[in-house]
Amino acid sequence: MPDPGQMYKNIGKTVISEKRIRAKVSQLAEKISQEHQNSEVTLVSNLKGSFRFVSDLASRLTIPVRIDFISFRSYVGTKRKDSKVRIEKDLDLDIHGKDVILVEDIVDTGLTLNHIIRYFEEFKKPRTIKVCALLNKPSRRLVPVQMDYIGFEVPDKFLIGYGLDHEEYFRELNNIAEYKTRQK
Ligand code: IMP
Repeated sequence: MPDPGQMYKNIGKTVISEKRIRAKVSQLAEKISQEHQNSEVTLVSNLKGSFRFVSDLASRLTIPVRIDFISFRSYVGTKRKDSKVRIEKDLDLDIHGKDVILVEDIVDTGLTLNHIIRYFEEFKKPRTIKVCALLNKPSRRLVPVQMDYIGFEVPDKFLIGYGLDHEEYFRELNNIAEYKTRQK
């Protein structure tokens, strides 16, 4: 069982401050609004890490917006071909013929996003699918992924805060920080 008291002592240095996150989210929302003028978008947030990002992003859009949540998780096996993605919660909304933006907290190996896009293209038939990720960790990529809107490129460190967790804690933090693992 994790010891939260001990875990909170392992919060490392801030990688992205609350102020920088706020500014970046506004910038991304402005770009999305401009590119979808006279239209509407459906934001699809992959739980749980992107719940804060999607909320802030949606509140800054100046176009009509619908929001839905899915939960797809990737499990990386010992070999790349063993990697699997499991659907824990599917869409509630119909996105057939709609302009969809997948909202992710962080793209790491790319497996989750790659799977979601292929699943939507095959079974949900949206008009367009774009990807908006707050963080991109390109050093760990296993499969190529299309990314249309990116907040920040981050190094290969384990990050917490602003939705990102370790053992389900730290999502409430307003900044993004490093988590000090024992090995480091
Ligand atoms: P992937 O791109 O399929 O490897 O999976 C991305 C998911 O892994 C994200 O949505 C996060 O939930 C999780 N993840 C990846 N890197 C981190 C991190 O540094 N901190 C917290 N969660 C992470």
